[in-house]
Amino acid sequence: MSLVLFGPPGAGKGTQSQLMLDTSDMIHLSTGNLFRDAIQNKTPLGVQAQSYVDAGKLVPDSVTIGLVREFIEKNKTADLIFDGFPRTIPQAEALEQQITEVGASPIDKALFLEVPQKDLLERLSGRRVCKNCGAVYHVSNSPPKKDGVCDNCGGEVYQRKDDASEAIKTRLEAYEKSTAPLKEFYMSKGLFVSINGLGTTESVFKRISPFLKN
Ligand code: AP5
Repeated sequence: MSLVLFGPPGAGKGTQSQLMLDTSDMIHLSTGNLFRDAIQNKTPLGVQAQSYVDAGKLVPDSVTIGLVREFIEKNKTADLIFDGFPRTIPQAEALEQQITEVGASPIDKALFLEVPQKDLLERLSGRRVCKNCGAVYHVSNSPPKKDGVCDNCGGEVYQRKDDASEAIKTRLEAYEKSTAPLKEFYMSKGLFVSINGLGTTESVFKRISPFLKN
């Protein structure tokens, strides 16, 4: 069984993925994390992706689709969570094809985290992330105990470049143009589930947990 977790930027995909991983044996792919790690480590992929990610634009499908194939091949016997992938119709089609070709777990549900735009803006502009372990904070909702220092690992807590206001605008536009059409795509396949993404992280997780395999 595999799950797609999708929604607009800031809807809580990363936060909910972490809770899903804490309570199941599933394996997680976040293309956003993958790009950020590559950028931090200055790998060839990072060099290729950086200008897109920093500006809030989608990395081209030709780059992203190949990366996901590698992940699926490596984890074909596991139950998978796809976070932030697919993000375009061609990516969704490629994912289906790759899962079939590789013999990986088919997609059981595509969970759409629904959050109004005003809340997205508040969440994104206040988000802070640990440079070392990726833990996610928010300046007012869930700040680290010590300013700028990660509670989990003591790493530096920083603001992502793409959480600057101009990049947030670009990301929301890219979402509307390229990712929102996935709702229809998954509806037509009978896989779409809308999850109310408002409320505490725990209450959102309660709405997701019936779809998890333990
Ligand atoms: P990615 O990292 O996937 O960014 P995103 O989709 O914009 O999602 P975010 O990470 O911003 O938000 P999230 O939904 O995970 O929310 P979070 O849990 O952090 O991608 C980054 C970039 O990489 C893209 O712009 C693109 O350039 C590239 N990329 C990635 N995948 C790609 C692909 N498939 N194709 C092409 N390009 C790709 O929560 C946000 C904040 O809200 C946090 O501060 C959190 O504490 C807070 N929060 C969470 N839940 C709640 C709650 N219930 N109540 C209050 N606050 C909450």
